Amino acid sequence: MLREIDPEIAAVIQHETERQREGLELIASENFTSKEVLEALGSVMTNKYAEGYPGKRYYGGCLYMDRAETLAIDRVKRLFGAEHANVQPHSGTQANMAVLFSCLKPGDAILAMDLKHGGHLSHGSPVNFSGILYDVHSYGVDEKTERIDFDRVRLQAMKVRPKLIVVGASSYPRTIPFEPFREIADEVGAKLMADVAHYAGLIVAGLFPNPVPFCEYVTFTTHKTLRGPRGGVVLTRQQHAQSIDKAVFPGIQGGPLMNVVAAKAVAFQEASTEEFRAYQRRVVENARAMSRAFEAAGIRLVSGGTDTHMLLLDVRSVGLTGKQAESLLEQVGITTNKNVIPFDPLPPGVTSGIRIGTPAITTRGFTGQESEEVGRLIADVFKQKDDESVKLRVQHRVLELCEAFPLYA
Ligand SMILES: Cc1ncc(COP(=O)(O)O)c(C=O)c1O
Repeated sequence: MLREIDPEIAAVIQHETERQREGLELIASENFTSKEVLEALGSVMTNKYAEGYPGKRYYGGCLYMDRAETLAIDRVKRLFGAEHANVQPHSGTQANMAVLFSCLKPGDAILAMDLKHGGHLSHGSPVNFSGILYDVHSYGVDEKTERIDFDRVRLQAMKVRPKLIVVGASSYPRTIPFEPFREIADEVGAKLMADVAHYAGLIVAGLFPNPVPFCEYVTFTTHKTLRGPRGGVVLTRQQHAQSIDKAVFPGIQGGPLMNVVAAKAVAFQEASTEEFRAYQRRVVENARAMSRAFEAAGIRLVSGGTDTHMLLLDVRSVGLTGKQAESLLEQVGITTNKNVIPFDPLPPGVTSGIRIGTPAITTRGFTGQESEEVGRLIADVFKQKDDESVKLRVQHRVLELCEAFPLYA
């Protein structure tokens, strides 16, 4: 139908489907949803206004909206053992905004992970609302271990006396223990928010600590390791439920995207299965398998390795910048992103690192064997960057792997 009515957009969708099918997606924050999630996203649920919450809507005709949202809420609460969930945030940034608006006044101090050490824009970057509205202070990783430096977190917290401490990162490949953050927050009288956008799927599978028992607020996106539609969630305790709900609507959003809420419910159902837990175990195994190939090739891994779905490579070890590495890989059909590494001397547009993640290739069915091979292919391209025959060979092998593990067949 679309092809007849709007051939231009139909062609775009067709080409993007082919791009996803015929390339290796190694962006750590991306994944491929199930066809069932896509079905809910493309449903008539998008037609309905449902401002408010189940049982308290500002529009009539919300019977089925209430059912979908209640299912999403109940399922995600069960997955994480949370007292209250808001499933309406349109994105991870909106989820974080809701928390900040609910418990801070403009000018209040927050303490969050430095963007240059792996934090996220919405944790206080000067170009983001969070950095514009609040008095932002940061903590980072130790220069030697490249792991969170808790002594520095404590010292900073004592000095700054933040109202809110933010834990969580976009490019930190290691486990984050939440207990020490809780202790520090209690010492200085701060609330604690964990943004586990990257780790949510791993948490559900018991492969990453669950922040819910330690934090007033837990936020995440539903589209990364969790493998759902693009969107955000806030989990909180009963005592903060009302202020979070008010912050989301009417605070920062209007009508919820009910097709997305329904698709979140589908993804939460999928995440409750043993199949999903096995998938998450493979995601982590594949990241470890790939890291073995990089180590063997002498490519330095930030922090010396990974506990998660994510690797951060210091590509200076092969004489490249992050920008060059990203572009070389793109030429052979492998998608990654350049990324600053801790204490990076290069600006964010160039960087010394690239970030790699295994959620998407694992969804395709890759095992440790293929993941290790992909690591070797990447190392070959980096080390023989001027040899066109190497690039051709890798490009060919990438296509073979994609054919062997078809996507949306
Ligand atoms: C830790 C973290 N929080 C929040 C977000 C923001 O999510 P969104 O792009 O949906 O706003 C991201 C996205 O990459 C993230 O990595």
